[in-house]
Amino acid sequence: MPALAGRRVVLGVCGGIAAYKAVEVCRRLVDDGAHVVPVMTEAATRFVGEVTLSALASEPVRRSLWSDTDPIPHTTVGQGADLLVVAPATAKLLSAYAHGFSHDLLTNTLIATRAPVILCPAMHTEMWEHPSVVDNVALLRSRGVVVVDPESGRLAGGDDGPGRLADPATILAAIEQVLSAAGDMVGLRVLVTAGGTREPIDPVRFLGNRSSGKQGHALASAARRRGADVTLVTTTGRPGPQGAEVVRVGTAAEMLGAVRSHAPSADVVVMAAAVADFTPVAPAAHKLKKCDGVPAIELEPTVDILAELGRTRSADQTLVGFAAETDDVVAHAASKLASKGVDLMVVNDVGAPGVGFEHDTNEVRILGASGQVAHVPLRTKDQVADAVLDAVVGLRRGSHGD
Ligand code: CTP
Repeated sequence: MPALAGRRVVLGVCGGIAAYKAVEVCRRLVDDGAHVVPVMTEAATRFVGEVTLSALASEPVRRSLWSDTDPIPHTTVGQGADLLVVAPATAKLLSAYAHGFSHDLLTNTLIATRAPVILCPAMHTEMWEHPSVVDNVALLRSRGVVVVDPESGRLAGGDDGPGRLADPATILAAIEQVLSAAGDMVGLRVLVTAGGTREPIDPVRFLGNRSSGKQGHALASAARRRGADVTLVTTTGRPGPQGAEVVRVGTAAEMLGAVRSHAPSADVVVMAAAVADFTPVAPAAHKLKKCDGVPAIELEPTVDILAELGRTRSADQTLVGFAAETDDVVAHAASKLASKGVDLMVVNDVGAPGVGFEHDTNEVRILGASGQVAHVPLRTKDQVADAVLDAVVGLRRGSHGD
């Protein structure tokens, strides 16, 4: 795999029965030309021999913060890395990394690195589905960490269910994907909008929509991982990816203001937000009371931000729109692409299972201005984000010859 040749990969191994599969991941990485630096936790050594991993990796296993030869291993191991991958990642590791605990060499390295991080969790189904683990995974994803979901299958002790470490081939594919994309957006300024706007009716009520902002946040994270300078304009309270500028807005008018001030300096604008088309003309200053009868709420149209960008952008800015549709999805998206003057329109059929609002997965079609349509089947929102950014990078390479 050319993406791996000569790349420095720190392979973290935690204490779980799946640690034996880390040996296979290590061997394949080395076979594909990567320089593998193995870091084991204390518990990992109970499941797989340190000698085994040392023999297969490019360097001996490291596991102590108190090395004789390296006075500050907690920073040096991660500083030189192109990528950190932890397989298997235990519930304890996810929790420690999510909350900034740095009690051993692996957790220190994760916190001290600026390299992309891939986590491959493995644990019993009850643990994988525990709300604390679910929350930690969501938090880490929102910060730009790639999580390779475990598979469903036979677990230690004869149990069956989700929690089994992903297949080494799947882990290798994720590593290759991240490494081949890493750095392909360096030097680009990317503006992403995320979430659904809220138009106040009175101080407690609003007109809103079901957008969760997950896809927009995943796009911002992926763009950061690929080296872009990212500004994320979001209606949600979710944390933005590490290193991104985050602008919090509520209404369509606030989103318009934020986009107007940031878009002129952006090379790429991705309008993933679900912006209200109508807003109350005069929101009530006090809470509307039921006893005063059904209120007549007069609405006026909002500015179509994407269409405005389509009219006013510079020739070298790449503009991406999103469309959530329930029928005739490609036809509706094609007409929006043309009428709003965008380069790419990403459309999802929000009526299909597992697609769009609030889900962690999405299935989209990416329409180009010259009529091409690329299908991205049901994938995590992180993977869909990378597919959209692949299309952006491809388009810019084609049109700028770089
Ligand atoms: N959009 C926008 N400003 C608006 C409405 C939509 O910038 N006031 C953008 C969205 O961010 C999205 C794209 O336009 O990237 C398509 O949004 P969508 O709601 O699907 O399309 P609309 O033009 O609002 O058409 P309709 O709601 O009738 O389907």
